[in-house]
This record gives sequence, structure tokens and C-alpha cells, in this order.
Amino acid sequence: MALSNFDLVFFGGSGDLAMRKLLPAMYARDVCNDLPDTARIICVGRDDFSQDDFLQFIEKNSKPHIKETPQDETWARFLKRIVYVALNATDVSTFGPLVEALRKDEALTRVYYLATPPHLFATICDNLAATHLVSPNSRVVLEKPLGRDLASAKQINLDVGKVFAESQIYRIDHYLGKETVQNLLALRFGNILFEPLWRREWISDVQITIAEKIGVGNRLGYYDTSGALRDMLQNHLLQLLCIVAMEPPTSIAPDAVRDAKLQVLRSLKRFTPTTLAQNIVRGQYRSGHIDGQAVPGYRDEPGAPKQSKTETFVAMKAEIDTWRWAGVPFYLRTGKRMADRLAEIVVRFKQIPHSIFNQPTSSFQPNSLVIRLQPDEGLSMNLMAKTPGDSMRLKQAELELDFREQFTSPRMEAYERLLVDVLRGQLTLFMRGDELEAAWEWVEPILEHWEQNDSAPVPYTSGTWGPAASSALIGRDGLQWREEVLPED
Ligand code: BG6
Repeated sequence: MALSNFDLVFFGGSGDLAMRKLLPAMYARDVCNDLPDTARIICVGRDDFSQDDFLQFIEKNSKPHIKETPQDETWARFLKRIVYVALNATDVSTFGPLVEALRKDEALTRVYYLATPPHLFATICDNLAATHLVSPNSRVVLEKPLGRDLASAKQINLDVGKVFAESQIYRIDHYLGKETVQNLLALRFGNILFEPLWRREWISDVQITIAEKIGVGNRLGYYDTSGALRDMLQNHLLQLLCIVAMEPPTSIAPDAVRDAKLQVLRSLKRFTPTTLAQNIVRGQYRSGHIDGQAVPGYRDEPGAPKQSKTETFVAMKAEIDTWRWAGVPFYLRTGKRMADRLAEIVVRFKQIPHSIFNQPTSSFQPNSLVIRLQPDEGLSMNLMAKTPGDSMRLKQAELELDFREQFTSPRMEAYERLLVDVLRGQLTLFMRGDELEAAWEWVEPILEHWEQNDSAPVPYTSGTWGPAASSALIGRDGLQWREEVLPED
């Protein structure tokens, strides 16, 4: 469905995110002829680029991130939409060129995407209001990090809320834009099969892993003050957990889904200093090998403090205090410089109660459903099946659904999907303010404990699945991470 006409403003418009993700996402929509002829993208930055210099800058820094090399004609059409505006976001007297650049048509959708550090959110919103650039038709998109603790998240909500109504605020978590996450909604609520089993009576445990091969790269300045808990767990992993665990919403309407997610966040069992020490492992990568290449340890990354205690890995056992989930462990894990790039959710069902075959119950692998987000997108269901031959031997077999094979229609990258939703005014895949605060509220005691406690993260070798303590964490419950039980290729 083509979009209605818009002015889309990227603050941080010459920054890394704009170049790598946002402009390529908009280009992808342009290629599909989704953008109205006169739709415009206004990139706002501090640098004093002329319009031509900025287009050259995009040519060099954004075009290489577009998947299929653009055809000259579509690329030229795309560049025509782009307007560069230089201003200092903290100085309202420099906003004149932006006022000039924006069209004064009230029917036009106007979106401000703040791809800037969060300490600028309040000032930018105030300055937009002071220059009369906010109307009921305006929307604001907030890019993470959305705070670094509960107080700063509350402050962001308060500051932005003074200028924009909640229904105009789009808090991005790009994991919600991934195809498989939406497919998880389809799986749970578009089929009758799973819902009756989706509870403590039938599910033994859930594992959610987001593993990356990359290290901290050139983001050390940000990352060293953040760490894996703030960077990945407070947002991406908790959002995945919410979609797995939420009660069926009455519809896909934004508040129906967000109410259901909020309930999960509020039902997460709080950690105490004792339970925290037992149920959370934090790690930091040391040197090792990734794809056969030697890589440095975190503390040897350029600019890293030699005694840094920033965690690049977290594994934890979380629990949800509800009738549906009481007693079912949710193991969450994320890390950089791990053995593989992988994002998946594994729902393991309970063991059969009794074997009628000449095989002990213990030889039956419990059924599991694996929902893969990355690198490929799909679902697999592990079942026990009879092996061919004259004896009744059962073995694990796999039912596989590969989304790419099944559906050949073009896919949308997460940012592409989310930008389209903002332009259409669809809030379902964005976090509401109270959800954001509930997530920080749950994470905060962990952060406080780590700050007060002088211990450092445990080291792990780059190219592995994290510290041994992570296997021990799940091992104490008689379980293993999925890759630990997978047969060797
Ligand atoms: C970002 C984090 O939100 O997500 C990064 O800040 C991380 O540290 C990235 O690398 C992972 O996203 P994806 O989509 O590549 O899995």
C-alpha cells in the first residue's frame, strides 16, 4: 500500500544509523514505488555540508549499504527527495533553515526521527515546539538508548511528553521489526495448536539467545558506559520474552498488544542480591578467534579502559509470576564475539510421562519448537518419529518451515518495516512509555548490584559460547543450552 505524502526529518541525519540503516530503508521503499512523488527526506546535522556535498557524502557512506546496487535512475530519483539542513540542535536560533525546509501543508505527515544521543531529545522537542513545528499530524521517533536507568527513562518520557502526545511517540526497538518476531504473533494467535499447550503444564523451559560474532567495533565510547544488559537485554531480549509470554491480546491494536506486554514486564520476578548472584552471569570477551581470524579482547580494543568492568555477555534465569508461567524458567542470553551469529527462541516442552516402547522414557527428546530470527528465518519443531526398519525404534526428527523458501515475496528489513509503520501511523510494534519504564524497573536492581559490588565480569574466549558459568547456570536445573545438545554436523 503506497504511503501518503510526508516530510521525514532525520536528526542525526549525517550519522552512522542514518547512513547504514535509515536511508537504505527508505531507498528500498522508493524502489518498490511506495513513496509519493513529492515525499521528502530532510537530513539534519551539525556539519556545514552544501546540498551537493551532502549528496556526495551519501553516495560514499550510505549507498554501499544498499543491498542491491541501485539503478542510476531510481538512485537519482531518491537523491532528489533528500534535503540537507545544517543546524545546532541545542540552539533554537539555528532552526530557521528547518522551518524553511518543511512544507506548511497540514495534511502532510511530518515525522521527526531522533537518531541522536538521548540527552538531546528534550532540547530538540522543545526547540521544535518553540519554532511551531509540531502539529497534531507530527510524530516523533525515539532511537535507543532510551535512557540508562529508570530515572533517565522517566525523564525522557516526561520531556518528550510535554511536546508530543503518547499517540505521537514511536519508541523504536528494531527487534520488533524483524519478520520472525511478527511471525511469532502469527504462530501463537493464528493457529489453534499452540495456545492450549503454551503454559506451565506443558512447557518445561524457554531459551532466548541473541549471539553476535562482532565485537564492540567503533562504538566503544557508548558501549563501555552501557554494557550488554543495557544494550541488548533491557530492550531486545525483554521484548522477545514479552511476545513469547504475553496473554492473547484482544486484537493487534497498539494498546491491546502493549497492555499484554506490560503485564509480562510487571510480572517478572524481582531479583534480590542473593537470587541475582545465583541466576545471572556476566562475562567479558578476551582475545580468541572468529572465523579463523585472531581478534583482540575487549580490554585491548582501541580506547578501552584496561580495567573495564563492562559486560559484553549476560546470561540469566528469569521467572514470570503468573498462573500461566509460574515455575517455568526463561533463560536469556546475549553476547558479543560469540561462536556464531544467531538469534533464536527455543520453547521446550515437557517429557512424555511414560514410554510404551522398548525404550526408556529418558531416551525420548522432549519436543521443542525453535523460532529462528537470525541468520535465517524459520521455525522448526522437533518430534519423535519411528526410524525405518522392522524394529520400533524412535528417534528425534525435525519439521522445518523456512520462511524464505515458503514465501518468495520480497522481505523488508526491520528498519524498513518500522519506518513504514511510523509513516502509516501504526504503533503496535513500538514501545509505550509505561512499558519502557517497567523494563528499566526490573533491570535496575541488577545494575545497582553490579555497581555496588566490586566484582568484575568473568572472562570468556572470543569465538566461544560465553563463560563456563553460563553452562553451569542452566546446568544446575539439569538443562543445557541448545547448541550444547545439538548433534555435531
Ligand atoms: C543494537 C545494539 O541495538 O543491536 C548493538 O546496540 C547490536 O550492540 C545490535 O549489535 C544487534 O542488532 P542485529 O539486528 O544485528 O541483531
